[in-house]
Amino acid sequence: MHVGSSIEEAVWVVVSSIPNDVPEITARFLSSREALARVGAAKATSSSSTTLSGIPRAWAPRQGMNMTIRFGIAGLGAVSNDVLPELMAHPEVAITAAADLRPEAREKFAREFGGEAYADVEAMCKSPKVDAVYVLTPNHLHAQHATIAAEHGKDVVVTKPIALTLEDCDAMIEAAQRNGVRLMAGTTPAFTPAIMQMAELVRGGTLGRLLMINTWWWNDWLYLPRMPEELDAAKGGGVVFRQGPHQVDIVRAIGGGMVRCVRATTSKADPARPVEGSYAAFLDFEGGAAATLAFNGYAHFDSTELTFGVDARGAPRETGHHVRTRTRFKSFDSPEEEASYKDSVRYAGTRQGAWGGRPPQKRHEFYGLTLVSCEQGDIRQSPDGLLLYDGEGRREIPVPVRGSERDAELDCLYEAWRNDRPLPAHDGRWGKATLEVCLAILESTKLRQEVLLKYQVPS
Ligand SMILES: NC(=O)c1ccc[n+]([C@@H]2O[C@H](COP(=O)([O-])OP(=O)(O)OC[C@H]3O[C@@H](n4cnc5c(N)ncnc54)[C@H](O)[C@@H]3O)[C@@H](O)[C@H]2O)c1
Repeated sequence: MHVGSSIEEAVWVVVSSIPNDVPEITARFLSSREALARVGAAKATSSSSTTLSGIPRAWAPRQGMNMTIRFGIAGLGAVSNDVLPELMAHPEVAITAAADLRPEAREKFAREFGGEAYADVEAMCKSPKVDAVYVLTPNHLHAQHATIAAEHGKDVVVTKPIALTLEDCDAMIEAAQRNGVRLMAGTTPAFTPAIMQMAELVRGGTLGRLLMINTWWWNDWLYLPRMPEELDAAKGGGVVFRQGPHQVDIVRAIGGGMVRCVRATTSKADPARPVEGSYAAFLDFEGGAAATLAFNGYAHFDSTELTFGVDARGAPRETGHHVRTRTRFKSFDSPEEEASYKDSVRYAGTRQGAWGGRPPQKRHEFYGLTLVSCEQGDIRQSPDGLLLYDGEGRREIPVPVRGSERDAELDCLYEAWRNDRPLPAHDGRWGKATLEVCLAILESTKLRQEVLLKYQVPS
């Protein structure tokens, strides 16, 4: 069989059916259905006669005209500068409430969105105007806030990491099951179109057996302005908790999900930033494939040099970026001054526009360089799709760019919520399995040996 033609055929089923005049809308529609069909419509169908907690009952798909899922946002910090416009742009999503400790954020939210603004996450979760909660509070509060939301009958999307311990994951999963709501491990590159397409090509098998996945990211994470908790491992600080879930999700999505064991070494290279700042990890998959994950948050090198100059937001990376980050870091006289700077880039801060937001001419998101090798070909991303290298040389497979990295995640939650079904992908168990790998990276460093895993789930 000619390998290339059948791969291109599969991809072009999606791409060629997009009319030229409405590319964005059609791409969204197709990707939404693709997202669900590809990542597990079969799973959803097979569990269709049970509730989320496993109790038999009839489905209760939501009926009527108003089919918008109404979100409450827990935490209006720096990342909410990305998440608020992304949610607002989704046609089936509304933002009706937010909770934050900072009064200026609550006031601006009430003014800008006309929504309910609370100082307390639990108070927000009691609102009848909220169907789902997006948890964007600091890492050590994810489990608490997700559990509160579930206990009040709200669906929950939790940014990465889903929690800091496996026990907390179990409590969150149990609360969601008991209350018949969905718990999603959100903010993941595994939902970006290029990574989804790579996973699909590998799963389709036309390139033969998967041999290895290598994903490498060099950036300035450690020297960006940080709050103290972001540099405290006990509170989920450092690059393993904060960035590890991205790389682990990429390789688990492409590699089938089931990691057998992990060997890793992390580094703490700067006494002024006493937390993990880099790691190298080797993952062995149940099926025999291997993965390497390398992350350097102290980097002077910028891995966007390897990714066509495009960064994780799908935006062009200007030269000298890391030098500017370090220069700004050196200008802080104290942790308080640094925290005050970080506060200024949060939602409602004086420098809010300096952090996040939607890039005007978005390409595909590059969470570093990911190179996938199968028996009969290698695949990596291009700014507009995938590059496939096989016996015939190199060719590009276009993949439609979506408006935001959260589009597929929101489609997936929305379809499950609307039809009152379990999530077909990226549920609490997936998030727990990804966290298990991150914890194994830390544990393997301590033990200087490989760590076997127990809670992996297939993609
Ligand atoms: N910064 C990023 O680029 C980024 C990207 C993706 C995901 N994330 C994740 O998003 C989360 C938040 O990151 P961030 O950089 O926005 O942090 P941040 O510190 O800027 O924001 C946290 C917000 O939560 C609020 N908050 C704290 N405790 C609260 C409580 N008990 N109740 C209500 N509000 C409370 C704070 O006032 C603040 O506005 C983290 O889990 C991080 O891993 C961050």
